[in-house]
Amino acid sequence: MRLFIGILLDNVTKQKIQAVQEHFKEFGSGNFTQKDNLHLTLVFLGEVSENQLTMLQRRMNEVTEESFYISLDHIGRFQRDGGDIWWIGLQKNPILEELQYMLSSNLKLDGFQLEDKCFTPHITLVRKFKESRQIDINHLMESKFKMKVTSICLMRSQSIDGRLTYTQIYKKELG
Ligand code: 2AM
Repeated sequence: MRLFIGILLDNVTKQKIQAVQEHFKEFGSGNFTQKDNLHLTLVFLGEVSENQLTMLQRRMNEVTEESFYISLDHIGRFQRDGGDIWWIGLQKNPILEELQYMLSSNLKLDGFQLEDKCFTPHITLVRKFKESRQIDINHLMESKFKMKVTSICLMRSQSIDGRLTYTQIYKKELG
């Protein structure tokens, strides 16, 4: 099964992100992330077998960070040939960086083959975006959003009836 560890967003934050997505639609079209699927990926694991689940849960339980705040404060993009990925990025956050670093380092020790890309914390708004007019980045986000992170979740990513669906498999509450 295809898994990742991520942070799920509360409803108020998802509504604010949806408002940004609506602004985006004025500038073109693409595959917009469904409200239920909006999240922040910490570690993308790829294909994982059932017998690796215990190891994953153990590493998640070892996380010592307590609940903390994140601040979503800018728009960014990853350039791609078939259309760019646009996202909301986070203000620099040492707690989040430490959590992500420890989790991914420990999982590598367990033999998980993780990508060595540098961590760019983001929430994907739209993939394969094709601009129909010049995007006015400054007016997409009226103000920054703050959100409390109280847990990290192990998520399964699969296509159900042709629809990309993320299902929670395990949740580690932060103190
Ligand atoms: P994202 O975090 O940029 O949105 C499940 O596929 C999640 O893991 C998605 O949120 C996805 O992108 C993220 N992810 C990170 N690296 C990935 C990869 N190499 N392939 C697929 N998804 C990846």
